[in-house]
Order: sequence, then C-alpha cells, then structure tokens
Amino acid sequence: MAVSPAGRTLALNHGGVFRKAVRSSGLSLCPWGRCAWRGNGSFLDPEVKAFLEENTEVTSSGSLTPEIRLRLLTPRCKFWWERADLWPHSDPYWAIYWPGGQALSRYLLDNPDVVRGKSVLDLGSGCGATAIAAKMSGASRILANDIDPIAGMAITLNCELNQLKPFPILTKNILDLEQDKWDLVVLGDMFYDEDLADSLHQWLKDCFWTHKTQVLIGDPGRPQFRGHSIQHQLHKVVEYSLPEPTRQENNGLTTSAVWDFQP
Ligand SMILES: C[S@@+](CC[C@H](N)C(=O)[O-])C[C@H]1O[C@@H](n2cnc3c(N)ncnc32)[C@H](O)[C@@H]1O
Repeated sequence: MAVSPAGRTLALNHGGVFRKAVRSSGLSLCPWGRCAWRGNGSFLDPEVKAFLEENTEVTSSGSLTPEIRLRLLTPRCKFWWERADLWPHSDPYWAIYWPGGQALSRYLLDNPDVVRGKSVLDLGSGCGATAIAAKMSGASRILANDIDPIAGMAITLNCELNQLKPFPILTKNILDLEQDKWDLVVLGDMFYDEDLADSLHQWLKDCFWTHKTQVLIGDPGRPQFRGHSIQHQLHKVVEYSLPEPTRQENNGLTTSAVWDFQP
C-alpha cells in the first residue's frame, strides 16, 4: 500500500480501494464524494461503525508506535483486494497509518513534556493516532480535525481500542474557520499536495504569529514538502528509521522526520 501522497500519487501498490487512491488526485479528492454521512453526521452512526468493524483489522504491529492499537486496512481485509469501485465511501485515508503521523506520534510518546498539560490540535488526523499519542502523553485538551467524516468515526473507535475517552472531533475544514488558540498544532503527512501545502503554510504562519502556537510537522520527505518554501522555516527535531512493513507499504521511503516550524 505505499503511501506517498507524492504528488498525485498515493503510491499504493496493492489492490482495490488503494489503487483507486493512486488514481485520485491526492487528498483533495472530494472527501465527501460518496459518503453518506456528510457534514455533521454522528460519529457513532451504527451503520458506519458496523462497516468499519467488518472491513478493518485491529493492529498494533508494523508501525513506529506498537503501543497504539488501530483499526486499519490490512491484507486480511476484503477491500485490500476487492475492486475499488465497490468501496462505498470516500477513499479511506483514515485506514492507513502514514509515516509522517508515525514519526510525530513516536516523538510525542517519547517526549511527553512536549504535550503534557497543553492544548493540542491534530490537523488532518486520519486514523487519529497522533491525537491518541498526545492524549496518552497527557495533553489537557485535544481536537482531532479531519474533513472526512468517516475518519471521525474511525478516530472514535480507535480511542476506544486504546481505552481512551474519545476527544472532540471536528470534520469541518478548519482552514476556513476563525483561528482558535492552541498551544501545539501537529500535522502528520499533510504536505502531499501543492495547493494544500500553500494553504497550510499560510494558516500555520497566522497561527504562529497570532497565538505563538508551536507547530510540529511529521513528514517522510515527500516532494511537495521538500520542495515547498516552508522548508526555510523548519528545524529538524528528530528522524526515525521506518519499520520494514511501513517501508514496504511506502515505496522508497525509509525514514520519517519531525520538524519544528519557526517562521
Ligand atoms: C495523508 S493523511 C494523514 C493522516 C494522519 N495524520 C497520519 O499521518 O496518519 C491526510 C489526512 O488529511 C485529511 N485532510 C485533507 N485536507 C484536509 C483539511 N483541509 N483539513 C483537515 N484534514 C484534511 C484527509 O482526509 C486525510 O485523512
């Protein structure tokens, strides 16, 4: 499944729904597209819950954070192999634990002082692992934000899996909303599309200058990140060697780093 939102290529090697992701235009691929739970749908919708439980596998292996259990799409799931057009929802980015998010989560778990007692926004939360890591490390307030409402449901289930009380989840585009004050904003693997990268860069600058918010970015060296002007405002905090299963699923990626944004 390799995930290099490298440009338009979520370089996913294997079957079904992931091939569809490869053909899609990055994560700007109409997240509401075929989703029946648009907008403010309940994160606990029993129908979606049953679908997720049936079509994902609980796993804690193969990532940088074996202490976090997640419901993910694995080779033992039907839709790993199934024809992509049979998948009834928007592309399941929440069913992948991306290398950028893995590095961020590892860093927060190993350095709880970075989040303890702080308010944390996980922007583009996906499966919610980084928000979960922040919670495990003692963050006082957490918001997981993802524009895909199915991600909201997946995050709720993943909180339960880790015996955590679900934290607030926002499925609106936070980039369009008035800035709230956060001590820390974390972004895992969000720089895979040039336009999104530009919007994020501007939003993060506003966040930093308005509220002095600390910003940590996890990225495995995607071209849209390495080639973006944000590079001049980053300091590398730590770099991790990716575990073999993550490497196999992510063509050509061997490491993932955490960057501190200092505009
Ligand atoms: C590559 S995934 C990363 C997920 C997670 N952070 C990780 O590292 O595993 C990117 C996620 O960002 C979400 N996303 C895309 N644009 C967004 C936006 N403007 N605001 C919030 N989430 C967004 C997608 O729905 C997707 O779940």
